[in-house]
Amino acid sequence: MLFGAPGSGKGTTGKMLTKLTGWPHLATGDLLREQIARKTPLGLEMQSILASGQLAPDDLVSRMVWDRLGWPDCASGFLLDGFPRTIPQAEGLATWFQGREFRPVLVHLWVEYNEILRRLTGRRTCPTCGAIYQIDSNPPQNPGRCDHDGAALTTREDDKEEVVLQRLQTYQSQTWPVAETLKRFEIQVEAIDCGELDPEGVADRIVTRLERIGGKLKKGIGSTSAR
Ligand code: AP5
Ligand code: MG
Repeated sequence: MLFGAPGSGKGTTGKMLTKLTGWPHLATGDLLREQIARKTPLGLEMQSILASGQLAPDDLVSRMVWDRLGWPDCASGFLLDGFPRTIPQAEGLATWFQGREFRPVLVHLWVEYNEILRRLTGRRTCPTCGAIYQIDSNPPQNPGRCDHDGAALTTREDDKEEVVLQRLQTYQSQTWPVAETLKRFEIQVEAIDCGELDPEGVADRIVTRLERIGGKLKKGIGSTSAR
């Protein structure tokens, strides 16, 4: 479970870890934005909630996750990004894990407040393949165009400054207690200080920690340095 404030790097790191481990990257924010882009009834309902920086209803998001976790590609491991995000979601997930053969770990990505604001105001994403850029620290080769498919990059609706502030507030009030809730269920929590690290460094540090806990990861690709 990749856990952390908006802009802490859950999506960026999740994509890298998927390549390293072979585990699918299940990001609830991406799943909801996909519904919005497809203009499904659910997407139309969710549009204003996401644009305001509030959270989608617990039962709806949880059902989406339980359904996705039943797919065969999750059988030997998965990366959750942005879930659980409230105490009821955390309790639901802890219950889901009971009696199943997984070793769940919450990976808490720590990033300073000012760095979060810097990152989110310069984030750009590819609407076609989902690649994530930052105009200063991780710019595309051709300005405004995705390196992978050349699509025009977009700014997320909820990256406007006032919405970012609301998302950070929502994080503090509703999401922050999730780590403590999971500890009560004896789920391991690993804090990763991401302050000075580039995305590769963050992924590398996570792999090192996970291998310390559970042995070699699926694809057998270990970290390049011990931390
Ligand atoms: P979601 O899409 O999950 O948004 P979020 O949690 O606010 O997180 P972000 O996606 O903004 O940031 P990130 O941590 O993925 O960072 P990223 O890798 O992009 O959720 C959106 C909305 O959906 C919610 O507000 C809510 O409404 C709804 N929702 C989702 N899940 C829900 C749930 N469970 N329950 C209810 N509602 C839910 O990186 C950010 C930037 O930093 C990028 O530009 C990147 O290039 C850059 N960057 C990343 N890592 C580094 C690094 N190490 N160094 C320098 N730059 C970096
Ligand atoms: Mg994300």
